[in-house]
Amino acid sequence: MKGRKNIGWGFLFLGVFMAIGFFLGYMHDLAPGKEQWLAQYAAGTHFEIRIAHAHGALFGIINIATGFALLKLPIPAAQARWISWLALAGLLMPLGVVLHALFGVLPVLVFLGGAAMIVATLWTSWAAFRLPPSAASTAA
Ligand code: HEM
Repeated sequence: MKGRKNIGWGFLFLGVFMAIGFFLGYMHDLAPGKEQWLAQYAAGTHFEIRIAHAHGALFGIINIATGFALLKLPIPAAQARWISWLALAGLLMPLGVVLHALFGVLPVLVFLGGAAMIVATLWTSWAAFRLPPSAASTAA
């Protein structure tokens, strides 16, 4: 049953990275010393946490969509396994942004995760186009 993990991890990432939005809101409007935070809008910790917030939520949603596609469409099992793992690996991208922002970790995970997510989405597109038109009606 390929796709279950993508849906579970996807919703987890969506929830956690949406929650970071409240931290961003606090820092933007309420925190003492918010002027210094606002000055980092385009570079620095503020910029990076915002990038993590947006990509963590988005990549979570992409995993949810990928999970449903894999559960519903008769994509061959070997391909489905690759797509599933690549989409999960994509979640390393927002994690890498957080690790870079908080601990100065080199952004290797950002590039690896981003590349994995691009391959996963293009592969899903290709696999869907290759299905016979009748597959869509039987998948419902
Ligand atoms: C699907 C869920 C979400 C997505 C895809 C998303 C995406 C984004 C994006 C792309 C930005 C950057 C906007 C810009 O720089 O112009 C942003 C900023 C922001 N988001 Fe979200 N967001 C989501 C949910 C939330 C939630 C639930 C909150 C809760 C309050 C939130 C609070 C914020 C705040 C406060 C900012 C401004 C951050 C700053 O000052 O730099 N977001 N979001």
